[in-house]
Amino acid sequence: MKIFDFKDNINKKDLKLIGSKLRNNELVVFPTETVYGVGANATNHEAVLKIFEAKRRQSDNPLIVHVKDHDMIDLICEEISEIERKLMDYFMPGPFTLVLKKKGNIIPNIVSANLDTIGVRIPSNKIAIEILREANIPVAAPSANISSRPSGTVIEDVIEDFGDSISYFVDGGCSNIGIESTVCQVIEGIPTILRPGKITDEDIKNLIGFVKIDNHVFTKAEGVVKSPGMKYKHYAPSSKCLLIYSQDLNLMINEIKMNCSKKTVIIGFNEHKELFDCLNFYNISPLNDLEQYSKNIFATLRKADLDNPDLIIIEGVANKGFGIAIMNRLIRAVDYNYIDIKKQ
Ligand code: TXA
Ligand code: MG
Repeated sequence: MKIFDFKDNINKKDLKLIGSKLRNNELVVFPTETVYGVGANATNHEAVLKIFEAKRRQSDNPLIVHVKDHDMIDLICEEISEIERKLMDYFMPGPFTLVLKKKGNIIPNIVSANLDTIGVRIPSNKIAIEILREANIPVAAPSANISSRPSGTVIEDVIEDFGDSISYFVDGGCSNIGIESTVCQVIEGIPTILRPGKITDEDIKNLIGFVKIDNHVFTKAEGVVKSPGMKYKHYAPSSKCLLIYSQDLNLMINEIKMNCSKKTVIIGFNEHKELFDCLNFYNISPLNDLEQYSKNIFATLRKADLDNPDLIIIEGVANKGFGIAIMNRLIRAVDYNYIDIKKQ
């Protein structure tokens, strides 16, 4: 196993080596602004197969193809509409994945799980972009975690999941955003969010004028879904988890107290640290600071798990704007064990 430390600067010689490893169909873990990815040459079936094996990922769950620029998107996708072009121009590079019609056979079916579309993304993280430029190929990269586990947002967590099954790891420090990109597909002319992320429905509406959020973002996805990844257990610690939210903070605190024992771990806001008699309290952000909350959530879920609690209680956030993405991940992390007080 080799770990390249690019936190403070990108070593040019190592960068060349990483580019050649990717071109030679080896797996490389690299940072992006959302979460870490496990990268492989997206044009090579065997290379991509290694990702599915290392992650123990279901073969019907397509991978996102990461590219260095818009020209490379035009090499692998076709029939790009005016709305799609606008989304590309505005949100790429950035934490945004656009599902487009696949062109020819440059990208093998294993990447797209036999769909006739592919999700493409241009990360804005400097290290990611430098690696993609150096490799000069499209790179398939799912989040760097064993399937069903919380996504890796610090290199230590990624190494814990994969150990020696992957040879090359690039350390870029803590992921800036902390949850995965917004996945969007223009369906019958309407930009439709298949997986929410940092680019929100409001951002897309401001640009295009209209937007839809796919039903599966809020509900348990089963059977045929537009974004197959949404139907699997995800982001989950092995301890039992409970997500609690109320617009009324006092109600939320009371509900947590009712569910909390001395063996419970709570993940919540800085302001609430002293309120509960519990095994451990992880304060991950000030109240209403969604950026900080999202940056810390996956690594904290993993830490909380190591305490071996009888229950992990997570304080939720309002289901609007960027909060939709956070709640979408949390509802799956707790396996739908969710109390929204106003609903009772
Ligand atoms: O931020 C991210 O997107 C990270 C970093 C590494 O770039 N990657 C990531 O990949 O989250 P992954 O494989 O964990 O999630 C990909 C999601 C899945 O929900 C998958 O179903 C969806 O994107 N997806 C990929 N290709 C698709 C397609 N052709 N049609 C519909 N959904 C697609
Ligand atoms: Mg994932």
